[in-house]
Amino acid sequence: MSIDNIRYCAPVSRATGLTPVRVMARSLFRRLGTGSMGQTELLVLINELANNIIRHGGSGEICIFPLVTMGHSGFFIRATDTGPGIKDLQKAMEPGQSEDNGLGLGLSAINNLADDVRISSRINGGTQVEVWKWLI
Ligand SMILES: Nc1ncnc2c1ncn2[C@@H]1O[C@H](COP(=O)(O)OP(=O)(O)OP(=O)(O)O)[C@@H](O)[C@H]1O
Ligand SMILES: [Mg+2]
Repeated sequence: MSIDNIRYCAPVSRATGLTPVRVMARSLFRRLGTGSMGQTELLVLINELANNIIRHGGSGEICIFPLVTMGHSGFFIRATDTGPGIKDLQKAMEPGQSEDNGLGLGLSAINNLADDVRISSRINGGTQVEVWKWLI
């Protein structure tokens, strides 16, 4: 599924901030020659995923897997954390739903930008968000 089984992972927490995941993503995009439009969209996805880990999940990691299939290329991004989990997933996906005075737009933006999103979350068992993004 991935180009040469490259898997780039970076830790995300209040202590690390967003820098390690941004640096990792930029280095992967440079290596693969990802266009600037694609990079912008991917960095928005990564920012929202990382911000949610920091603000709601406590700590975790983000891994990025390059994808190539039938002449198309893209990325699979997986954000995992060991936080409290999402109480009401359906509600959390609605625009404007935030539990801590955020805009409540992150998950709906991810949903709109990505080609496919899967979220699994358990109360006190952490959250995993999987995102597929194909490049044009
Ligand atoms: N990793 C996570 N762990 C626990 N809860 C989460 C996680 N990600 C999202 N949530 C819950 O889902 C809600 C909606 O998330 P979303 O990203 O859409 O909005 P937000 O983070 O509150 O605000 P914004 O992203 O606009 O700054 C959050 O308020 C939070 O309650
Ligand atoms: Mg958010």
